[in-house]
Amino acid sequence: MDSILVRGGAELNGEIPIAGAKNACLALMPATLLTDAPLTLTNAPRLSDIRTMTTLLRSLGAELSSLQDGKVLALSSHDLTSQRAEYDIVRKMRASILVLGPLLARHGHAEVSLPGGCAIGARPVDLHLKGLEALGAEIDLRDGYVHAKAPGGLTGGVFEFPLVSVGATENVLMAATLARGTSVLRNVAREPEIVDLARCLTAMGARIEGAGTDTITIEGVTALHGATHAVVADRIELGTYMLAPAIAGGSVECLGGRMSLIAAFAEKLDAAGVDIEETPRGLKVSRRNNRVRAVDVVTEPFPGFPTDLQAQMMALMCTADGVSVLEERIFENRFMHAPELMRMGAKIDVHGGQATVTGVARLKGAPVMATDLRASVSLILAGLAAEGETLVNRVYHLDRGYETVEQKLGACGADIERVKGE
Ligand code: UD1
Repeated sequence: MDSILVRGGAELNGEIPIAGAKNACLALMPATLLTDAPLTLTNAPRLSDIRTMTTLLRSLGAELSSLQDGKVLALSSHDLTSQRAEYDIVRKMRASILVLGPLLARHGHAEVSLPGGCAIGARPVDLHLKGLEALGAEIDLRDGYVHAKAPGGLTGGVFEFPLVSVGATENVLMAATLARGTSVLRNVAREPEIVDLARCLTAMGARIEGAGTDTITIEGVTALHGATHAVVADRIELGTYMLAPAIAGGSVECLGGRMSLIAAFAEKLDAAGVDIEETPRGLKVSRRNNRVRAVDVVTEPFPGFPTDLQAQMMALMCTADGVSVLEERIFENRFMHAPELMRMGAKIDVHGGQATVTGVARLKGAPVMATDLRASVSLILAGLAAEGETLVNRVYHLDRGYETVEQKLGACGADIERVKGE
């Protein structure tokens, strides 16, 4: 298994191109299942999670070619051969559940393995299922699989999500595009990835209003057609690379970044003493003083501070002047990076859903273990600011969500390399 070796201390100066959003692309790809016409996605990120979704869609009979070195995905579900998503693929990636709504809407039945446990909490799929039931689906859980059917087709319905879920919003939104009549979904997620999915579905002929607000109304249509859609920029990759000069010093321009994708996070960086300048090409980031100030953070659904940037923000706070409290409200058990950061000399006290971080002047390099996707990149960020060598092991998590991290940071002057494992 590969590792990443970082020798800390180098200032970062240069440009980092931000890829298309992993989480948007993982929802856009299953949209192919809604139509027999071709769907083309441009600005796709080149990540192992995207390859897992490719394997899943192919197992259903979808055709998928990867063009321009993986940046363009050409999808067709003209001749689907199966409506069953097998455990062997689904267990690798929770987003696999997103094939359920589209398969059910187009074929009237679907079987999808339950995704199972996950390192960052229980993460059930009950909201996906309840939302689909509100559109007339009959759902049965048997042998570890969700068996869903709607023999006469789905019908429009009204559903209020009891809590905000990105994935459940996406699944039910896709299903509702082909339901008979009008659907009203309340308390939906407002993430930019939802807006991007709605844009793509609209380009495919769906009739959707309100994406980006807390209520989405969908007028069902009998069929969708093909479209070409450019995937929105990855706001989590953007936030991660904005933290690199904040923690290591220097000035980095994140190409393709937009403030509207990341306003709550940018506000916190500003309060910590980091300058963010909007340029014609993206966002240019540099810290005002040698050391940032401690700020408190609470994770919330969009437009709040994203949970997917909590671990990386914690790495920055480990080196800040003062004490900060980071509160995780989306997932239980999402502080697995804390003990690893503590191996690097960080002072962190985790108590329930909160972590109190007392900044230290300098972290110290150490061998550490990546426990999940965002945790792994937080350790790399910490390594940039640490004295000596940090070896981040088990980086397969990292490859799920970050394209060529060592090249992007290396091009700005970071001393970072991938150490090939067996
Ligand atoms: C998506 C993102 C993930 C991000 C998360 C929150 C993708 C592929 N992944 O995950 O990177 O961290 O949003 O921004 O887009 N919940 C239930 N029942 C359900 C569904 C969710 O109780 O049926 C709970 C979850 O356990 C969690 C909360 O709702 O506590 C939010 O989860 P959700 O927004 O659904 O996250 P994902 O869509 O899985």
